[in-house]
Amino acid sequence: MTTHSVSIAYTEINGISRLDEEDRNLLNEAWISCESAYAPYSNFKVGASLKLANGILFKGNNQENAAYPSGMCAERVAVFSAAALYPGVAIRSIAVVAKTDVFNLVTPVTPCGSCRQVIAEYEMLSGEPIKIILQGNSDKIWILNGISNLLPLMFHGGELKK
Ligand code: THU
Repeated sequence: MTTHSVSIAYTEINGISRLDEEDRNLLNEAWISCESAYAPYSNFKVGASLKLANGILFKGNNQENAAYPSGMCAERVAVFSAAALYPGVAIRSIAVVAKTDVFNLVTPVTPCGSCRQVIAEYEMLSGEPIKIILQGNSDKIWILNGISNLLPLMFHGGELKK
């Protein structure tokens, strides 16, 4: 019997001053997107913005629905839009932020399991780690280098049989 252990890493900073201009801009765009989220049922607004390898920026926010499960998370709105319009172009970085009066967001918001799995798919396609920048209702910002820091032992279909 062998017990394996996996570790994850993230960097925490306070405030945007330690981010470079590109990441500051990405985070800012996520906040702008967050403002236009359609979240009348949860009152939990999420904004995402991502930068593609070709320099183009995509944004998304959560879109809720009266039939609750029909809604979609901010991250997947952004990632699927980018993949639909620029198939095969790698995602370099993604910023995710959230704002709510309903909960106390003392730590940055982290993507849900389904969004992690979706981000993982595109990271695996490109083979390059995606930089993930997260913020909630405070100055605290978390930075992760690659989705394996959010989704260790992620599902993948394995090597395609010849
Ligand atoms: N939500 C996101 O947009 N991203 C996540 O990673 C988790 C949750 C949305 C879904 C729903 O509209 C609201 O936040 C509350 O769950």
